[in-house]
Amino acid sequence: MSALLERYRDLLAGPAEAFPVTLGEGATPLIHARRLGEELGLDNLYLKFEGTNPTGSFKDRGMVLAVNRALASGARAVICASTGNTSASAAAYAAAAGIDCFVVLPVGKVARGKLAQAVAAGARLISIDGNFDEALESVRRIGDEETAAVVNSINPDRIAGQQTGAWEIVDELGRAPDALALPVGNAGNITAYWRGFTRYAEAGRTTTKPRMLGFQAAGAAPIVNGAPVAQPETVATAIRIGSPASWEGATAARDESRGVIEAVSDEEILDAQRRIAQTEGVFCEPASAAGVAGVRRLAADGRLHRSETVVCVLTGHGLKDPDIVSPEEGEIRTVGADLASIRRGMGI
Ligand code: F0G
Repeated sequence: MSALLERYRDLLAGPAEAFPVTLGEGATPLIHARRLGEELGLDNLYLKFEGTNPTGSFKDRGMVLAVNRALASGARAVICASTGNTSASAAAYAAAAGIDCFVVLPVGKVARGKLAQAVAAGARLISIDGNFDEALESVRRIGDEETAAVVNSINPDRIAGQQTGAWEIVDELGRAPDALALPVGNAGNITAYWRGFTRYAEAGRTTTKPRMLGFQAAGAAPIVNGAPVAQPETVATAIRIGSPASWEGATAARDESRGVIEAVSDEEILDAQRRIAQTEGVFCEPASAAGVAGVRRLAADGRLHRSETVVCVLTGHGLKDPDIVSPEEGEIRTVGADLASIRRGMGI
């Protein structure tokens, strides 16, 4: 039984509904990032580290609900398009449910760890000569044929389950933060967080709601540009998306919360990824660092104030994409096995 879905049953499900499939999702740490906050000029900066979910990303929050409901409705298979994390999550939950999983992936653009997860869980991988947007379009059509339940975020259970991230933050802080920052790809998560805060306000569990701060990669920034991007490109492959399915949900979140959706460069993303790891010991994947890169800018130009409570959602674990930080030549000192050589290697 999913403890996450049980905890928020009153907001998510009927009293008698059963959720037998679980991998122990949710309840991720909210880390007070003092050292990183000092660097950015924020006293109350928090990192919601979604990398500690069972498959290492926030996708598990919605996938647990989507797969339990697919199973209850008699589905024998699930299908998704993915830049990697959705497929890793779908593969794991389908395996636990004892049903088949098909994943359609953009060729050569899925990080190694995510591919390994889907293969290990026994998913059937279909790699297409196209990008995520084209993969999702095909999956929508196959979904219409009802051969398999679609578990992309166009499935409302995915967005519903992902609201739990917002609820955990309010429960832990005792109130909503002043601002919430996160990366934007297909735009499901920013839609889910905003819906979650709004729902909690309606239920009287928070009196305030945060400004929503969404960040796209500069080479894949359709919402910022106001037009789809035909050939999106970014080192943050998780958010290499040119035509987000939840576009309207994202702009509603931005406008209703008086927030922003802006673009950050690949360089800013990779720099933020390193700073998060080196100041806080938290290793997230590149896409996840986009929120911190954006917050750095907003704090620097005075759009975020030192005393404000800011939560950055770190959406996925760094181990998913190890090639991004593989040591460059010169970073590893190869020396003899004797103590003197090792001391020299240490520089002492
Ligand atoms: N961060 C990570 C690590 C992701 O994997 C994704 C999306 C996002 C952020 C963006 O979230 O799409 O809700 O705006 N990954 C999807 C996938 C597209 O297929 O795994 P979003």
